[in-house]
Amino acid sequence: MKFSIVLSLVALLPFVAALPPPIDASVPASPEALDALLQEATAGGESLLAGDTENELAGACRAVTLIYARGTGEAGNVGGQTGQALFTALRSRLGASAISIQGVNYSATVLGYLQGGDPAGSTTMTNLINQAASKCPSTKIVIGGYSQGAQVAHNAAARLSAATTARIVTAFGFGDPFYGRAYGSIPASRTLNICHTGDIICTGSGGSAEHGNYNRDAGAVTNFIAARV
Ligand SMILES: *[C@@H]1O[C@H](CO)[C@@H](O)[C@H](O)[C@H]1NC(C)=O
Repeated sequence: MKFSIVLSLVALLPFVAALPPPIDASVPASPEALDALLQEATAGGESLLAGDTENELAGACRAVTLIYARGTGEAGNVGGQTGQALFTALRSRLGASAISIQGVNYSATVLGYLQGGDPAGSTTMTNLINQAASKCPSTKIVIGGYSQGAQVAHNAAARLSAATTARIVTAFGFGDPFYGRAYGSIPASRTLNICHTGDIICTGSGGSAEHGNYNRDAGAVTNFIAARV
């Protein structure tokens, strides 16, 4: 290749890097799947009333730190009933003063889902996990998310150092488009991925109804976490 061509390719690199990542062909993109995501946003709308934002990482270190990413279209930084049912169950089981809950503030758009989890959100979640690990050297870290939030958690897990990965006691997903994939190098014994039969987002077939009721699984995830902290 001529030197001048190499030079012009190098000159193009910043622009190539600025392009959005390609669509991830592995996630369901049928009209039914997109409808399921809209239903998810509606469920998240319930949380507009209260409690859709959690920012406890800024406070004192606690025994357990949960970094949680909400689903597409959900409000605040933790969204609606899926996350909130889990937080209520966890605070009740562990004690509110034993767990810090931190949402991931990212733009949870349908495009982000189609890209395999919002790229900026994946970076934000990685940074929050690293921040929890360095700020609170003895906290046990739990990560997880709902729908696109689970994609974001997978992406973040894949970027952690071995030392930080060792600090993660649980990684979980609800209605995860990446159902069946690992969370980075986190051992499978520490992961719990809940996917309902008939949830089109994690199974690729079915509809939206079974994607919108993961609040029912708050107890199962709480039991799993409580056994590991
Ligand atoms: C997310 O970040 C933006 C930009 O800093 C801010 O305006 C917004 O209030 C934040 N949202 C939440 C829920 O914290």
